Amino acid sequence: MRRSEFAMPEGIYLDGNSLGVMPHAAHKRVQERLEQWRTQVALGWEDWFGLAEALSPSIARLVGAEPHEVIATGSITANLHALLSTLYRPDGERRVIVATALDFPTDLYALAAWAERGGGTLRLVPSRDGHTLHPEDLTAALQGDVALALFPTVLYRSGQRLDVAGLTQTAHAAGALIGWDAAHSIGATPHDFHADGADFAVWCHYKYVNAGPGAPGGLYLHERWHGLTPGLPGWWGNDKGSQFEMTPGYRKAGGAGAYQMGTPSILALAALEGALSVFDTLELHEVRARSLALTDHLIALADRHLPEMKLVTPRPHAERGGHVSLSHPDARALSASLRNLGVVPDYREPDILRLAPVALYTTEAELEEVVRLLRDLLGSGDHLRVDLTESKVT
Ligand SMILES: Cc1ncc(COP(=O)(O)O)c(C=O)c1O
Repeated sequence: MRRSEFAMPEGIYLDGNSLGVMPHAAHKRVQERLEQWRTQVALGWEDWFGLAEALSPSIARLVGAEPHEVIATGSITANLHALLSTLYRPDGERRVIVATALDFPTDLYALAAWAERGGGTLRLVPSRDGHTLHPEDLTAALQGDVALALFPTVLYRSGQRLDVAGLTQTAHAAGALIGWDAAHSIGATPHDFHADGADFAVWCHYKYVNAGPGAPGGLYLHERWHGLTPGLPGWWGNDKGSQFEMTPGYRKAGGAGAYQMGTPSILALAALEGALSVFDTLELHEVRARSLALTDHLIALADRHLPEMKLVTPRPHAERGGHVSLSHPDARALSASLRNLGVVPDYREPDILRLAPVALYTTEAELEEVVRLLRDLLGSGDHLRVDLTESKVT
């Protein structure tokens, strides 16, 4: 779709749901911001001071929000803590926080800490099959004494996509707030957080948005909550007009910008600035259509040629994010063998091979080649001879 706009690495890259490929625009923008630092030093702040806010219109498009409801800052973990410190207000019996047994661990660490601090408990929606969540279990968990829920838009291991609009409605009908971890959907699927009424959301920009390792994260806070004072305030979340008056009293910025804490990394924001410029010229429904065409193709190839591998990603389009997960007892060895053959997939404990065809740069021919290599490995057993002692990450 936009492959020529990316610095494609050698071989076949199917790990864009972990770290996206570098857009040339990100490289260029970082170089320009570096040059500004070299030549202007502190005078560069004239331009850098409102840089995060300047990116909000592009980010708001990606998550379906108003620009003042989003900000690029922190990380998923830090933003979650900042939002929970503000929004988790246990009251009487209503103290439970709901999440799921299949969540990315950092979310659970943050939620458990706030539940403990607030005298509440963390209730986890169980999985019936170890890979996916059943709609009835999600709905049931939201009933009763729930103060706040956090769900993933797309599950990081299986790639199951949840119904944001429906679950938001269910949570609100039960009197609970609801937020979303959109790490595995931003840049791959459209969102409509504001229209769906979601209270808050967090995500990263290093996966499908391609803003680089450790890129600034993102947060959304529905404008109905903009009257609250952030629980973890900092001077960068002060109203921009009075930030440099340096008064002892905190005067929070009007919107989600209030959730910034300290001085942002301008070089990291520059990479995000470049990465977002690619999305500015794209229609998100076209990105989603291309992503679905690629995952359909991959699933059809796996059905035909890899019967020993079990598809754990749901088949219906509405229930699927941007990646395809196949389980196999040798998944770790298969992942390592593919790497030796010039393919970058990723592996998630204990038996999942995750393959992420990215709408912006993956081709059908690459998927066909990867399935052919997997077929050869499974047929020959060559993957069982690979050295698994080296890689710590995947
Ligand atoms: C669903 C999800 N949440 C959270 C994180 C990590 O968050 P952070 O940006 O704080 O490292 C990841 C990282 O891959 C993730 O996949």
